[in-house]
Amino acid sequence: MGWWRGLRERIKKRQPLRKYTSFKIGGPAELFIEPKNFTDLQLLLAQAKKYKKRVFVLGAGSNILIHDRGVKAIVLRLNSGVFKKISFCGNYLELGAGVLLSRAIFLATRKGLGGLEFLSGIPGTVGGALAMNAGIPDKHIASLMEKVTVMDYNGKIRLLKRKEVNFTYRFSDLAKYIILSCCLKLKKSNQAQIQKRIREYLDYRRATQDLTYPSCGCIFKNPPGDSAGRLIDLSGLKGRRIGDACISEKHANFILNLGQASARDVLKLMVLIKREVKKKFKVTLEPEIKIWQ
Ligand code: EPU
Repeated sequence: MGWWRGLRERIKKRQPLRKYTSFKIGGPAELFIEPKNFTDLQLLLAQAKKYKKRVFVLGAGSNILIHDRGVKAIVLRLNSGVFKKISFCGNYLELGAGVLLSRAIFLATRKGLGGLEFLSGIPGTVGGALAMNAGIPDKHIASLMEKVTVMDYNGKIRLLKRKEVNFTYRFSDLAKYIILSCCLKLKKSNQAQIQKRIREYLDYRRATQDLTYPSCGCIFKNPPGDSAGRLIDLSGLKGRRIGDACISEKHANFILNLGQASARDVLKLMVLIKREVKKKFKVTLEPEIKIWQ
């Protein structure tokens, strides 16, 4: 462990990751650290490169399935002050990558700034949301982004404008960097109306999605012009269970962890879903979640 130099005190070995994920599934990280600042992060990346260690960044853990064996990698969680900064400048909102979307929505609403409402109920961080271009079918976080500050894996910090980033449905090429912060453009809006829109989005989620058991949200991306949930539902798979992993009765694109589900159970269910949907509709579903192994 000598190679960690100044970070030795704070690096944890074999840290269980399950508690950092919304699925409550996953084995340990070989090494786990919450860097305090950009210098920490640069030092870590340099050491990871030198010793050929993979680096994974954990946001709110709401869109990942971590293998039961865990990951042979350094797992970073951007949870300290510098990664959680929030500042307003007129209609612009500057957010650290570790800020929760719910917090950003709350503070923007208090300032009478709208635009983020459609992200209500998504249990992610700003960095995670940008990395996967989170949103709902017709609105994505990319539409609000003006600029993003990232660090490449050589430790170099860059400021990218919106047009320098490639965003498509549930994809951004920001995933090749570590996202540090971003600037979103919002619009002045009536506070009561913002709150009403938030309530509507949350009500729709509660009515259509099972939020009572640990899950990862939607497991598969929607195929063009359709809904993966609808196809899985029509394949008669609601309620199918492997171990403690179960396809939700409420929304078929949700796999629920009923208690002690393993990553293996979830992966088996995913294989079953893909096979049945392919057989019935000739559609190949692509995972929306990230799988760490
Ligand atoms: N449907 C069914 N059966 C189901 C689920 C859905 O028939 O089991 C039908 C619905 O009745 C509706 C259509 O499929 O006609 C679309 O369903 P829904 O409005 O729930 O939207 P979705 O396309 O399944 C998307 C996002 C969700 C987001 C909702 C709400 C993806 C993969 N999913 O779901 O995002 O919350 O819209 O706007 O894009 C996530 O990304 O994790 C996620 C949950």
